[in-house]
Amino acid sequence: MRDEIKSLLPELAEIADGSLRDKVVDVWEDALKAGGWKPNDLMRIPFTLLADHVDIMFLEHVRTVCKMCIAMEKVLKESYGKRVCINHDHLVAGALLADVGKLLEYDEREGRIVKGRAGEFLRHPFSGVGLCFKHGLPNEVMHVVATHSKEGDHGKRFSESIIFHHADFTDFELVK
Ligand SMILES: [Fe+2]
Repeated sequence: MRDEIKSLLPELAEIADGSLRDKVVDVWEDALKAGGWKPNDLMRIPFTLLADHVDIMFLEHVRTVCKMCIAMEKVLKESYGKRVCINHDHLVAGALLADVGKLLEYDEREGRIVKGRAGEFLRHPFSGVGLCFKHGLPNEVMHVVATHSKEGDHGKRFSESIIFHHADFTDFELVK
């Protein structure tokens, strides 16, 4: 399963720290197994259940937002150099893991993908952090997962989470 995850998420190669890269794959593998999904399901699970008639799939959303984050970081660093503080590895790992908890939040019933029982209690930022904590992801990456969505609106977001949050909502608003 690990090789399938790596081929579905080529942006993993952007993470320079091999140990961090492996932990990101660990979390995806665990989430897929715990949720009862197969890697290819990532191409048929809708990216959100908050809108009707979604034709953008989970994997497309994760990869698109990750690529947007990398592009935003590049522009910001080209423009401002050291005046902006953005950790590339933490940004990419956070971007790849922010929505992984949806694999626990969602369920499939009678051929329809719906919010599952677990998802009624814990939205994906919470289950995502739980999975990341279990696999030893650094606090900086768990911060992106924890604060990327509305749950993070009332606290401080660090640079990587600000970038991810806005890229994520740009994609969400445009394609929902
Ligand atoms: Fe999310």
